[in-house]
Amino acid sequence: MTCRLNNRVAIVTGSSRGIGRSIAIMFAREGAKVCVNYVGSEDKARAVVNEIVANGGEAIMVRADVSKPDEVKHLVETTVNTFGTIDILVNNAAVMYPGSIMDLRDEELDRMWKVNVKGVIHCCREVAKYMIEKKYGKIINITSTAAIGTASHSTTLYALTKAAVIILTRRLAFELGPYGINVNAIAPSFVPTDMFLQGRTKEELEAILEKRKETVSLRKIATPDDIARVAVFLASDESSYITGQVIVVDGGRIDYLTHSL
Ligand SMILES: NC(=O)c1ccc[n+]([C@@H]2O[C@H](COP(=O)([O-])OP(=O)(O)OC[C@H]3O[C@@H](n4cnc5c(N)ncnc54)[C@H](OP(=O)(O)O)[C@@H]3O)[C@@H](O)[C@H]2O)c1
Repeated sequence: MTCRLNNRVAIVTGSSRGIGRSIAIMFAREGAKVCVNYVGSEDKARAVVNEIVANGGEAIMVRADVSKPDEVKHLVETTVNTFGTIDILVNNAAVMYPGSIMDLRDEELDRMWKVNVKGVIHCCREVAKYMIEKKYGKIINITSTAAIGTASHSTTLYALTKAAVIILTRRLAFELGPYGINVNAIAPSFVPTDMFLQGRTKEELEAILEKRKETVSLRKIATPDDIARVAVFLASDESSYITGQVIVVDGGRIDYLTHSL
């Protein structure tokens, strides 16, 4: 059995569902002790912890809204108090309100900004205190191909928040690199999770996915595990000389408005 994250301690924000859930479970399988963070889905977070523990791993769950600095402080302190340290942070939690620039409400834009951008800043700031001291750390930000110009309708302002995550990744790699902290990002394309489902029926979803396959060179749709495997690589020391990078995990998507990365 490979254990690429043996004895590492990780926080995965928003790991009660979707991509974050897969990352938390895969990290634990690779030997990491994991803090499962959530904001509303207590039962789902508990199910993730139970699954990890049932498979011989170690995990705790902490409720914290990443948009609130005091709750993030509690998240990081609880993890450090429980497991003794913090090595890996995955900034995965995000919200997406679909809508064009003409119809998205200001409150929705504010919420996306607070969770998707300020949330990442709050979490990075809290873990960096510990990582700088120990001169080791891995920060992985989940951005999106929306940020690099995919032709997806109703995602412009969400894309804006995810573009901010890309520049944050590069700037933090620059700021934190001297302390032995790697900061990278993963840009998934579409992954059928709750975020993508958003009120669609099963039939609607299947029709959309069929169409989506035609926009992907590999002609298949990603699963959360496809993203989690890349997160394991970036969290492990196999990627120790990689920082400030955005790894696009999109099956070779071909509907870019621009492809300038
Ligand atoms: N799915 C896609 O097609 C896709 C494509 C590109 C990028 N991404 C990115 O991948 C990441 C995961 O997306 P997903 O599709 O897995 O999303 P999802 O299924 O909607 O799950 C979102 C997760 O984030 C948590 N969360 C939301 N707001 C939070 C807050 N304020 N504080 C703490 N946790 C919060 C949720 O917790 P609760 O369960 O407690 O609400 C949940 O665990 C996001 O960064 C997203 O932007 C997704």
